[in-house]
Amino acid sequence: MEGRIAKNDYTLGGRHTGITLRAGETIEFGIYAMHMNADYYPNPEQFNVDRFLPENRNQLTPYAFLPFGLGPRQCIAKRFAQMLVKLTLATLVLKYRFNTCEQTDIPTKVHISSFSNAPKCINLKIQSYIENYIY
Ligand code: HEM
Repeated sequence: MEGRIAKNDYTLGGRHTGITLRAGETIEFGIYAMHMNADYYPNPEQFNVDRFLPENRNQLTPYAFLPFGLGPRQCIAKRFAQMLVKLTLATLVLKYRFNTCEQTDIPTKVHISSFSNAPKCINLKIQSYIENYIY
């Protein structure tokens, strides 16, 4: 995906930020750095989905969670992609038991790029429930 390009000079947040985008400049966000920033997400290495519960939402910083971008040019398939990921995970955990093993990297090593941050490698021990699986 191409980065966003400023059409005109534009100062972010009025004059308060001191950041002016110049016409023609390409803009990319360091999303991984933002999602792992303890100012926004205390203990960022900790897997804690409770951060996103409705009762904890007032502790979240707007625009500090951008897996699909935000605003008029955010990912058009955001809901579709989320549904797909949930269905895939649900199907997998229904059929297989996942465990870490000696080869599992803890914490996971991440390949950081401008668009997505995929794990470098995930080695897991996978056991099938298939004998007990009822369709
Ligand atoms: C987990 C999967 C996905 C992630 C994390 C993701 C993430 C993103 C992100 C970060 C953007 C840029 C938003 C911005 O610049 O503000 C984007 C744009 C876009 N995505 Fe996705 N995406 C996913 C799946 C998909 C799928 C499955 C499709 C199509 C079927 C899709 C279609 C698009 C399109 C067309 C745009 C450009 C929207 C525009 O420029 O107006 N994405 N996506």
